[in-house]
Amino acid sequence: MTQMLSIEPNQGATLGARVTGVTLAQLDDATFKQIEDAWHIHGVLIFPEQFLSDEEQVAFSRRFGGLEKLITKIAADPNIGVLSNVRPNGQLIEPEGSYALFLLGNTFWHTDSSFKRVPSKASLLSARQVSSEGGETEWADMRAAYDALDDATKVDLQEASAIHSYRYSQGLVGGVDVLSEEEWKALPPVEHPIIRTHPATGRKNLYLGRHASHISGRDVEESRALLNRLTDEASKPPRVFSHTWSEGDIVIWDNRCVLHRGRTWPAEQARTMARTTIAGDDDTNEWTL
Ligand code: OGA
Ligand code: MN
Repeated sequence: MTQMLSIEPNQGATLGARVTGVTLAQLDDATFKQIEDAWHIHGVLIFPEQFLSDEEQVAFSRRFGGLEKLITKIAADPNIGVLSNVRPNGQLIEPEGSYALFLLGNTFWHTDSSFKRVPSKASLLSARQVSSEGGETEWADMRAAYDALDDATKVDLQEASAIHSYRYSQGLVGGVDVLSEEEWKALPPVEHPIIRTHPATGRKNLYLGRHASHISGRDVEESRALLNRLTDEASKPPRVFSHTWSEGDIVIWDNRCVLHRGRTWPAEQARTMARTTIAGDDDTNEWTL
């Protein structure tokens, strides 16, 4: 039987909706289709208090496409990654260590895996342990950001591509030890168009974020400054919203057309999130599991 789904778009923001009246662990195909359609429209869906196990999160994620292999140093299991400032034994991680610097990287606007040859399609994040303050996640609507550009900028960017590099973005936060030399070798800088068209909606959007170093064929410093200005403008109201997590919440966002960032939280408090990633749709994608 189709469940009584309720989809409430965020008031006052161009993206995001809250979905209730569904048990994701027992999802029929008709309800999944409604969820997928709503996701294409809103870019980010929040499902409060679903309390999915790892296996249930992986199963729900797989309905959106093949999973993307996570970088092994970050994830013990390539299917699902744990983002946490505490070890399994409850001990806090080293505040200056490479893993802390990996988490710090997430606090800058980005889209997951844009540094891969085939970037990811979507990410799902669930809250396992929340801090009593801070630790919100925010998303910015890069479709509305494109729509808001003046015509001259749209023309200027029409044929432009950005160079995305994880070594560049992790270098900015001082955390290049997070990967082994072998892993770095598998991640050379890649080029992606700055304006992309969403395959499901046909809407154009900006494709930027912290892994975008500069514009191919242009002055590095000048084009980097332009990318930064575009990101600043993109992430202003009404194109942005923030989610304050409760344990058990799970969120899916569309990495093709939204940026996200995590906010910091008090270092002495535990925050643990579980992440699954949907690989970009491409038969030749070497990152699909
Ligand atoms: C991520 C991410 C931010 C957060 O999981 O990709 O950027 O708030 N997370 O934990
Ligand atoms: Mn991320």
